[in-house]
Amino acid sequence: MNVTESINARRSVRSFDDQAIPADIIDQLVTLGTKAATGSGQQAWGFVIITDKNDMKRLSDEIKKYLGENFEKYPYLQQYKNWIKDENYNVFYDAPCLLIIYGNTNSHWHVYDCTLAAGNIMLASVEYGLGTCWIGFAEYICDTAAFKSKYNIPEFYKLICPMVVGYPAAPLAPLSRKPAPIFYRG
Ligand SMILES: Cc1cc2nc3c(=O)[nH]c(=O)nc-3n(C[C@H](O)[C@H](O)[C@H](O)COP(=O)(O)O)c2cc1C
Repeated sequence: MNVTESINARRSVRSFDDQAIPADIIDQLVTLGTKAATGSGQQAWGFVIITDKNDMKRLSDEIKKYLGENFEKYPYLQQYKNWIKDENYNVFYDAPCLLIIYGNTNSHWHVYDCTLAAGNIMLASVEYGLGTCWIGFAEYICDTAAFKSKYNIPEFYKLICPMVVGYPAAPLAPLSRKPAPIFYRG
């Protein structure tokens, strides 16, 4: 599979089969993530890998509880109220792996570095037969002092991308997009 094929095949996957991801494949994905461009060569990323589904379920419950009690603070989440209220909804979709990328705030470029690393990981995952989904909901827990302390994340690292990874339960149709706005073409 070449890069163009990976780009065209990538979708956000929200349903996974039970198969665990071999540790060496996760390691390879992380390594491929770190091949991304990096501002001033500073490589301002750090990774957390959680593979315990019970931990993820607990985190999902905590996020849903927090959001359920604080929805009014987040107007941009109103459209997801029914998802969060649904007791069967797992924010992490029962995936076998939650891979979280943190940015080292000592680098001005940390957000870009980590987002590019996330893109690499999403595209490389396609080649390994894996699916990914960025989980924005996780930002309400994965950047807290308690979470950082539990998972050994230095305080000056900031959450950038929580992403679930796993083997898709079913293939997804290729994506479609609106035509790209082009503001100038010389
Ligand atoms: C910053 C960001 C946050 C996202 N958060 C969530 C999320 O919390 N839950 C979810 O199911 N999908 C989430 N997504 C996935 C988007 O919904 C998805 O990328 C979009 O619908 C387009 O679909 P595609 O990725 O299959 O092309 C997020 C994507 C991004 C880039």
